[in-house]
Amino acid sequence: MTSTATAHTNIALIKYWGKKDAILNLPTTSSLSLTLDKFYTTTTVSKNDSIDTLILNGQNVDARKIQNFLNILRDELGTFDQLTITSENHVPTSAGLASSASAFAALTAAVTRELALDLPNETLSRLARRGSGSASRSFYGHFAVWHEGIDDKSSFAESIAAPDMPIALVVAEVSSETKKVSSTEGMQRAMTSPDYSSWIQNSAKQFLDIQNAIITSDIEKIGYIAEKNALDMHALNLTARQQPFTYFTQETQQILAIVSDLRHKGILAFSTMDAGPNVKIITTLNEAPTIVNHLKKEMPHLKVQTAASGPGVTYD
Ligand code: DP6
Repeated sequence: MTSTATAHTNIALIKYWGKKDAILNLPTTSSLSLTLDKFYTTTTVSKNDSIDTLILNGQNVDARKIQNFLNILRDELGTFDQLTITSENHVPTSAGLASSASAFAALTAAVTRELALDLPNETLSRLARRGSGSASRSFYGHFAVWHEGIDDKSSFAESIAAPDMPIALVVAEVSSETKKVSSTEGMQRAMTSPDYSSWIQNSAKQFLDIQNAIITSDIEKIGYIAEKNALDMHALNLTARQQPFTYFTQETQQILAIVSDLRHKGILAFSTMDAGPNVKIITTLNEAPTIVNHLKKEMPHLKVQTAASGPGVTYD
């Protein structure tokens, strides 16, 4: 028997950037995301009688991270056979979008389906969190919140009631990469910033404010709060006491300047960035083409794609 699930990636508008428990992946703050239609992972699992194996986009690749995660699932759900995981990743890893979010969500969904366990999304979210924190939010379409919780049971994501709205995300992929600092490593360093406790406080307020903006479909306010939250996060990286760093390159800053310029011209455009130099621009479906054209004119080598709000996990 085989089981297949598809999960879309999500972009955090209120970021997860620090763990209060690194084994359980319990975050220091609650976070909030938008699921994207364009980027997703489809994963099929089947039992085998040798060893957990990962075939990613047709290639047999290093499965250690997946093996660790499957062993966590064995501890939590009761042991099960070795698995062959066949994954097609439609998240260009170079696009700086967290492919681990859709990957661990799709894997958790496919494995539990294969075991004929009909678990609610909250439980799946909690399990996927152990693989990668951001994966907890990828079970839901549109907007999701991940409650930081105080222990394994209380730290899970859920969908939030939100009206349909024409929100869009323009993903601008820069050509140059800085030295990679993984998100796990980056957040560890950020937590040594003297500003970390104010970040937690500000984030709690932004988390509430953005939910009010979502309820009223106020995309401008959503963008404003998300941009502030992301810049606050990246400031922590710079002010870390241990191994300060930045994900920003010169091109990142050039794009941010263009976003600010467009805003002065009356275009709804706000930026957000994750653990890499690429910029995602929050806007409306109407205004996205103007932003894309402008970016392509000013920085012709950029790869630019537009995504809209996407669905939750689906099963074949
Ligand atoms: C900047 O979920 O990749 O994208 O739990 O260590 O695997 P681990 O981290 P990960 O971190 C994502 C960080 C972020 C913000 C976010 O998605 O909330």
